[in-house]
Amino acid sequence: MLAAADNLITIALLSIVLIIVAAIGYGFQRDRSKRKETVPDPSPPTSAPPLVAPVAARLHPDAVLALRNEAELQDTYKQLRERPNLVRVQAIWAAQYKAIDITEYFREERTFLAENPSVEFERIVVGQDHHRPYLQELATNHQNLLIYTSSTSLQFELYLCEYSDPTRHLVGVLVVNSALSRLPEFGVLLDGRIDGELTQFGYTLRQWFESIPKELVAGSLRAQNVWTQNAPDYDRFVSRNSELDFLKDYIRQEDTLLESLVKSASRDVTVLEFGSGTGRTLQYLASVAELEPKIRLLIGIDHSSGMLEVARNKRDKTRSSERDRLFYFELDGARARAFWEDQVRLRPSMNDQAQLARAGFATTTYENTDKIVCCLLNTLGVMDAATRDATVENIFSAATPNDRIAISVFDRAAFPQFARILYPFIKTLVGQERISSEAYSDELAEFRAGYYYSHWFDLDEIETFVEASGGEIVSVESITSDGTTIGHFVVARVATG
Ligand SMILES: C[S@@+](CC[C@H](N)C(=O)[O-])C[C@H]1O[C@@H](n2cnc3c(N)ncnc32)[C@H](O)[C@@H]1O
Repeated sequence: MLAAADNLITIALLSIVLIIVAAIGYGFQRDRSKRKETVPDPSPPTSAPPLVAPVAARLHPDAVLALRNEAELQDTYKQLRERPNLVRVQAIWAAQYKAIDITEYFREERTFLAENPSVEFERIVVGQDHHRPYLQELATNHQNLLIYTSSTSLQFELYLCEYSDPTRHLVGVLVVNSALSRLPEFGVLLDGRIDGELTQFGYTLRQWFESIPKELVAGSLRAQNVWTQNAPDYDRFVSRNSELDFLKDYIRQEDTLLESLVKSASRDVTVLEFGSGTGRTLQYLASVAELEPKIRLLIGIDHSSGMLEVARNKRDKTRSSERDRLFYFELDGARARAFWEDQVRLRPSMNDQAQLARAGFATTTYENTDKIVCCLLNTLGVMDAATRDATVENIFSAATPNDRIAISVFDRAAFPQFARILYPFIKTLVGQERISSEAYSDELAEFRAGYYYSHWFDLDEIETFVEASGGEIVSVESITSDGTTIGHFVVARVATG
């Protein structure tokens, strides 16, 4: 098994090296006028074009930098962490460093994590058993860190940083280690800020990072997904029949607005929901008889295995005409590059295999339907800002100009009054028996208690992140309770201008 995994990794790495050569040689022959980057295609090209163009003819000369020793590597990692607007670091540590003071190294890492709580940090550690106590301590103390070990023998290291400004870009350091000594032999810095083609390549490196077999170090705080912990209770509080008027009014109006959107589509429809939770909306849409001929597929993605389990159990109990159109995939919205314009890339890790086999959704297109890509009930508000921005970007990437995007969020101005009614009502979901007054920030329109976080939005904020993702707003409806606006239902599309 392990040998097979190693072979796969080797093949993946060879592909990466080939892509580097291709990138350097031919400068990613693609349509530069395209709105965003295309999905990196894992399959090799059928016929390779000849090697002709010199390196510098395509890439900016300052965008690729050779790093020749440990000191240069360590300095570069440090500088990359200090660049402004860093939102995520994905690092593989597989080498033996000779000149490293390990106590000092972990002290710096601890300080960085504590001082930068909004930077998501993921680290895969390969064969560094003597560091386990440090790793364990980091994993259990920092919510912004996911730390994995891997038994795969890698001869490569990676330090991949994502920044949100001036435009979203990736900067990576790829290092080759000696097969015998495991010392780092040679590194190359690929700066997507200087040359956008390298951001495209950064996404390929990210795919490699995510495909490496790995295990989370026990006790990792981030693994304590607040949604999974409380999934069995969710539907008791959040439904069309909620005892809380705020939720009942919100959900019923949101459902009606979505139904109208489905009816107004000129072709049959696929509904793709980011953060679909227990399938509250998708299951409801599947059950509306009038919509049955119109809705071909209902696809939910969520990062919480617990919420997905509840959704799938409910689905599996319904009649086949509902059940066979519903799919729930395990994916982080911020990384959902499985959905791209008219393409779907299904992977086994997305975990709805039995349903895929039974209902036969083997297609990697949406069967010529128009899509409604949605994110509902303030799901964007429960994400930290970096995750939200990346998720919105992926929502728009999953759509073509014919499709519609529906986003519904709680209204910022309603926060002072309604947050103090909503969160005590769902205290079981928040995970706190008594919610202190400090949990509410009216100034920021934010609720924060334990692992639960939620931000409420005004229309300017929505407009800003829609436009930053290449979208434009088509319409805005207010959601109200007893005459007061409590939310916004925004319909947008990919900007064509
Ligand atoms: C407020 S609940 C809404 C659930 C459902 N849309 C509804 O309306 O009932 C938020 C959902 O978003 C999911 N979620 C939060 N962050 C996510 C992320 N980064 N990627 C995917 N799902 C996410 C949670 O697991 C949870 O199921």
